[in-house]
Amino acid sequence: MSVRILALVGSLRAGSHNRQLAEAAVKLAPAGAEVVVFEGLADVPFYNEDIDVEGTVPASAAELRAAAQGADAFLLFSPEYNGTIPAVLKNAIDWLSRPYGAGAFGGKPVAVVGTAFGQYGGVWAQDDTRKAVGIAGGKVIEDIKLSIPGSVTRFAETHPVDDAEVAAQLTEVVARLHGHAGEAVAA
Ligand SMILES: Cc1cc2nc3c(=O)[nH]c(=O)nc-3n(C[C@H](O)[C@H](O)[C@H](O)COP(=O)(O)O)c2cc1C
Repeated sequence: MSVRILALVGSLRAGSHNRQLAEAAVKLAPAGAEVVVFEGLADVPFYNEDIDVEGTVPASAAELRAAAQGADAFLLFSPEYNGTIPAVLKNAIDWLSRPYGAGAFGGKPVAVVGTAFGQYGGVWAQDDTRKAVGIAGGKVIEDIKLSIPGSVTRFAETHPVDDAEVAAQLTEVVARLHGHAGEAVAA
């Protein structure tokens, strides 16, 4: 049985380097693992308890929850916006954190990686993402880390999958997350 890893990308722009990293993860997934990028984050409204009512949850948010329910693990890709998580990714985490105590992260393994223009590669955003997703019910794999600095220049001409160093690092990230997810599935 293939382990399904749901990728959430915290940048909506068409040329996003974090999206490219996610595309690379799709290609680099080992046998027995499948990485699927969730495509609908731009359509998910800001979380609001008034609209999170059983039976009338917005379709886009319900699709996000269904995709997460069907996943065995999560791989989150975050750039850094003003020193922290972009709103689109935080919003997805908020939707997946509810119903309280029964959210779709459900104790499943989560790894957070990403790239940003700054010299630390968005490490503040990725650390804040780990904090939020852990509170939201995910089992954060704290020692899987990849923060790639200088996104705008490093990936200006080269897709991450064609950057040998990044491809090797990402291959290890996905393989290790697959290992954690496999343990969880077998348990
Ligand atoms: C609103 C905004 C805030 C940003 N803040 C930071 C920041 O705090 N640290 C950083 O390293 N880069 C920052 N950047 C630059 C992003 O890291 C860079 O644009 C990155 O490539 C965006 O990711 P993407 O290629 O996946 O869209 C910011 C960019 C935007 C648009």
